[in-house]
Amino acid sequence: MKIAIVGSGYVGLVSGVCLADFGHEVICIDKDADKIAALLQGIIPIYEPGLDELVKSNVSAGRLSFSTDLPTSIAPADVVFIAVGTPSRRGDGHADLSFVRAVAREIAGAVTGFTVVATKSTVPVGTGDEIAHIIASINPGADVAVVSNPEFLREGAAIEDFKRPDRIVIGIEDERAREVMTEVYRPLYLNQSPLQFTGRRTAELIKYAANAFLAMKITFINEVADLCEASGADVQEVARGIGLDNRIGSKFLHAGPGYGGSCFPKDTQALVKIGQDFGSPMRLVETTVSINDHRKRAMSRKVIAACSGDVRGKTIGVLGLTFKPNTDDMREAPSIDLIRGLQDRGAKVVAYDPQGMMAARELLKDVIFVENAYDAARGADAMVLVTEWNEFRSLDLERIKSTMTAPVFVDLRNVYPLQEMARHGFTYVSIGRRQPGTSLTY
Ligand code: UDX
Repeated sequence: MKIAIVGSGYVGLVSGVCLADFGHEVICIDKDADKIAALLQGIIPIYEPGLDELVKSNVSAGRLSFSTDLPTSIAPADVVFIAVGTPSRRGDGHADLSFVRAVAREIAGAVTGFTVVATKSTVPVGTGDEIAHIIASINPGADVAVVSNPEFLREGAAIEDFKRPDRIVIGIEDERAREVMTEVYRPLYLNQSPLQFTGRRTAELIKYAANAFLAMKITFINEVADLCEASGADVQEVARGIGLDNRIGSKFLHAGPGYGGSCFPKDTQALVKIGQDFGSPMRLVETTVSINDHRKRAMSRKVIAACSGDVRGKTIGVLGLTFKPNTDDMREAPSIDLIRGLQDRGAKVVAYDPQGMMAARELLKDVIFVENAYDAARGADAMVLVTEWNEFRSLDLERIKSTMTAPVFVDLRNVYPLQEMARHGFTYVSIGRRQPGTSLTY
């Protein structure tokens, strides 16, 4: 199959590379000439494990190419994927569809023969209808089937997620698209990944409902963690106890500093707006959004409490800045609110992240960035583990403690066993767990 992907950002690039790896002939398009020039030289604009090698092998096999020229690139394509950004619109939280609409207009003038136009971008319910309308109004002769094919990739595990998905959702209104999309995903279908064909609006909603449900699940366990702290229970045990129930499942029950990233915050807000637009409010999602925002801000207060209620003039070492491990993405990262909250109360912040420091420098002012965890600990009055990178799971705790001014360790990801931290003599504050030896009020 000949496939064109419009938008070579995270979703577009990963999808394009993986589809090329399936044996299709893929061209990834972007209007950012610098990005395309870099890709043509084998420079990958994002950090994603395994992506680099996969791009190189598919380019040298002649299955993958890059271009800024949309009309020429999509003319021969059997399928054109739209994978441009749909950021939150400033001010109202609606998904901003201006890029999607602009691409639809360009596609309208360039398609030849029967072409499937599939949206991978996360778009509100009804956007597929709008794209079909735009194309038909600009080029009434265009033979196009507009499909919704949402993406469920997780950053840091995107290639694995693309190649071994739990399901592939395809929303169609034209039966001819069924055959084409089955062919696109044949290698996965043969791998037993279920293809769910459904209506276009349903597919669009599935994406938002999936992300909102996962965000609610995280937010639920985060609230349970607070209750555990107040009542002397252990959130990890609660998560295990409920997760073993197959109806609940154990994933996305890790309590932490609140969810961040490029999807959950944006998509939960957009779903709230979609609900309002259709006069069918999404009250659980509205509450989830507000609890999560509040939680991210509350994390600095947790650190301040661990420092006897005062951080003025104190040095806080922060481990991990990105919104999760294995990415360089700082979007909506809990570290941002945490660090600003600590600075507002007069703390000096020293931080280290394995991949996120370049992006963090742009966002965070007056932070001292260092090259490793041990440098962040030197002279610190407290350490805060914010993002659970693997290298923070096996720290030399004695070495960390020996250079700190005070042995206070706040672990917002519950990485370390309580007993171990007690043995090393840390004042250890984690999420929804009680340090051994602390007393409870009845
Ligand atoms: C998410 C969805 O998982 C993916 O299907 C969708 O396509 C895009 O959004 P991503 O944002 O890459 O993917 O990361 P994910 O691993 O889902 O984590 C999102 C946030 O939730 C992170 O801030 C993470 O730290 C947090 N999280 C996740 C928790 O706090 N606890 C958990 O148990 C799981």
